Amino acid sequence: MKRVFSGIQPSGELHLGNYLGAIRNWVEMQHSADAFFCVVDLHALTIPKESGEVGAASLRLSQLLMACGLDPHVCTMFVQSHVREHTELAWLMECHVSFGELSRMTQFKDKSAQQKDFISAGLFTYPALQAADILLYDTDEVPVGADQRQHIEITRDIAERFNGRYGETFVLPEAVIPQAGARVMDLQEPTNKMSKSLESPRGTVDLLDPPEVVVKKIKSAETDSDTEVRFDFETKPGVSNLLSILAAATQRDPNEIAGDYEMYGPLKADAADAVVEMLTPIQARFTELEADPAETARLLEFGADKAQEIAAATVKRAKANLGLLAN
Ligand code: TRP
Repeated sequence: MKRVFSGIQPSGELHLGNYLGAIRNWVEMQHSADAFFCVVDLHALTIPKESGEVGAASLRLSQLLMACGLDPHVCTMFVQSHVREHTELAWLMECHVSFGELSRMTQFKDKSAQQKDFISAGLFTYPALQAADILLYDTDEVPVGADQRQHIEITRDIAERFNGRYGETFVLPEAVIPQAGARVMDLQEPTNKMSKSLESPRGTVDLLDPPEVVVKKIKSAETDSDTEVRFDFETKPGVSNLLSILAAATQRDPNEIAGDYEMYGPLKADAADAVVEMLTPIQARFTELEADPAETARLLEFGADKAQEIAAATVKRAKANLGLLAN
């Protein structure tokens, strides 16, 4: 079975775009691949945080992921800082990637431009830690959004360089960018992706929004002045977004659904209902998990133990091939 690995930062909440664009895909993947999913809390530290903030967000995100259907007994799901090999291998990665290569990372350029008074060194070396995440598990495929392609490329470059200098050590991973994954845009500004960082929360459906809030947000979604229902993001982004959401929630084809509607009102009502129906069991499961943090901790420990067994073997191999003095 092929091994897949992906990571997600514990920042903010999960929204409908995260769920339909990625998480739901992960839930399916756990049954067809040897899947590793990691809450990358150490990556979150690259931007200054308050004490306790990252820990609380990691717990919450883990519970959300489990509520969405990731099953710690089916996949391997864990928190990055619980497996110390991530930081250990990250140093070896840092010493095998150049300043020039890291300087070309567009995510660093974007994120450092947003930081006013403190750009951490970790923000710059972030891809080395990500390479460690991936290479520790002999990963074949990395399901990620298109914005992460460059980070997977640099991971391959580091792995190839290391293998070239010290002999076969790491498996070269491939990025898998889902093509047909649902496109979910901001409800108020449908030319932007739905995102947790946007100023106005009205355009983003949070996975934990109560049903009446979901309905209100979807019913007040931006559409356009004519009344034709057609699936075409170029000319009708708002309506296409609603079609895309309804299609994803009901596992149907958006072009086909477009034919069922002549007005925006019923389309919005049906999209709202479908989303509420999809989120209801997720929210119920989250409420249960939230009430029992010790159970979540136990599940995460189980995941970290499984992960560590593989990670430790990889670090051992890397150090041996590098020829560090054995202890
Ligand atoms: N950098 C990724 C993001 O911002 C998160 C991440 C960290 C990741 N380590 C990873 C993704 C390993 C895939 C594999 O989305």
